[in-house]
Amino acid sequence: MTLHRITLRDGADLDGFRRAVRRLVYEELAPQHVVWTVDEAPDLFGGETHGDAPPVSLPRSLTETIGRVVCHRDPERYALLYQLVWRVLNGERELMDIATDPLVHRLELMARAVRRDLHKMHAFLRFRRVGGALPERFAAWFEPEHFILEAAAPFFVDRFRSLHWTILTPVGSAQWDRAALTYGPPARREDAPAEDAFEEGWRGYYESVFNPARVNPVAMRSEMPKKYWHNMPETAAIPGLIQTASQRVERMIEQEATMPAKRTPERAIEAMWDQEPKTLEELNAIIAAAGPLVPGATQAVFGEGPVHADVMFVGEQPGDQEDLQGRPFVGPAGKLLTRAMGEVGIDRSQAYLTNAVKHFKFEQRGHRRIHSKPTAGEVKHYRPWLMKELELVRPKLVVALGATAVLALAGKAIPITRSRGRAKFGDWQGYVTVHPSYLLRLPDEETKRTAYEAFLADLRRIRDLAQADPDTGELPLAAE
Ligand code: URA
Repeated sequence: MTLHRITLRDGADLDGFRRAVRRLVYEELAPQHVVWTVDEAPDLFGGETHGDAPPVSLPRSLTETIGRVVCHRDPERYALLYQLVWRVLNGERELMDIATDPLVHRLELMARAVRRDLHKMHAFLRFRRVGGALPERFAAWFEPEHFILEAAAPFFVDRFRSLHWTILTPVGSAQWDRAALTYGPPARREDAPAEDAFEEGWRGYYESVFNPARVNPVAMRSEMPKKYWHNMPETAAIPGLIQTASQRVERMIEQEATMPAKRTPERAIEAMWDQEPKTLEELNAIIAAAGPLVPGATQAVFGEGPVHADVMFVGEQPGDQEDLQGRPFVGPAGKLLTRAMGEVGIDRSQAYLTNAVKHFKFEQRGHRRIHSKPTAGEVKHYRPWLMKELELVRPKLVVALGATAVLALAGKAIPITRSRGRAKFGDWQGYVTVHPSYLLRLPDEETKRTAYEAFLADLRRIRDLAQADPDTGELPLAAE
């Protein structure tokens, strides 16, 4: 039996694997006739070219699994994936639904490990300022378990689009220059900058919100594994805090009677304001370090868009999808908003989208996480961050989507029925309209259609106002 050798690029070579699969399927080569190896030289395909064999149609769940599993460190990953592809194409089309099948099960565990690694990278990577660099540059060191750099990097482009940054890892690096994302060679920890002044703020914040009475080192380590601690400024305080936790609890009990009302993170956040975040990245670092006011959210969902966008849209709080993906307005309401923006010619990628509250709050019902509206107190808690965000983005027009956004921007509750249309939020030119989720909740098609038309009319005015000359207020000639 002749064995067919396929050599793919070291790391996660999704393109190489896809091309190889096309070729192998076209030549009807069963898995037992194929040996998979990796090499640093990307174009070694066992001395053969793979040409362009016809595409292979695979169920979506399988292509998703492939996308994840190619990032796994297991040297057998390509061989296992090809076995799965082969079986699906040879009579077992529903194989992916059989979770008890040993191969499906093993690959699902691998996909899950990669997803977990990605989640950790998104949550625990910390950029540090590169000393003296102009324009300002940031770099982060991270040690992922799997080959996830290329899968993880676009997330940071979305989040820190306006910064120059580099992510350094032992298996490769990624660089964003505000226009293009490029990948480079592996790095060493020493290549990353040491701590910067901003980290002091994070540490101070973490120390002051740390509740010694709730110390559970085991849970803490499983949420935030120790191997990531050294890259996260706020964790430098953890060992000391754990050691002194019991004394601190006793002291707290002793002081209880004399202590003022309640111990809040506000003072620590105020202390961080002393450093005045000068970029969205610094602001977002504060929000991330503060964590959710109500526990449960996966991560903070920051604003997204060009830093000096003409229009800034403010929603209420991230929903289930936003919480999982770490991006604002990507769930059903977000899709409706994006569609409506497109219909009136507002390019979503040129607008800045954010929320009054930066963490998802929900009620668990079975497997479902049902959105729960933020209270006025929660909106107030997040308000200074929103106002800072507004100052940093400096849009020509800020749009409140729904009553919570009005409350956050105006600092007081005003019903939409009274405030809809042009508005002033302090010195900012504003506009008030309904929240897209309101349109989704309307009971019948006719009401929905009318309300959607009215929403489109608002968006048209928003489009025109955002293009108006900021000094004269004159609209461009083309506007309606
Ligand atoms: N609703 C919001 O207000 N914001 C989102 O990001 C998603 C849904």
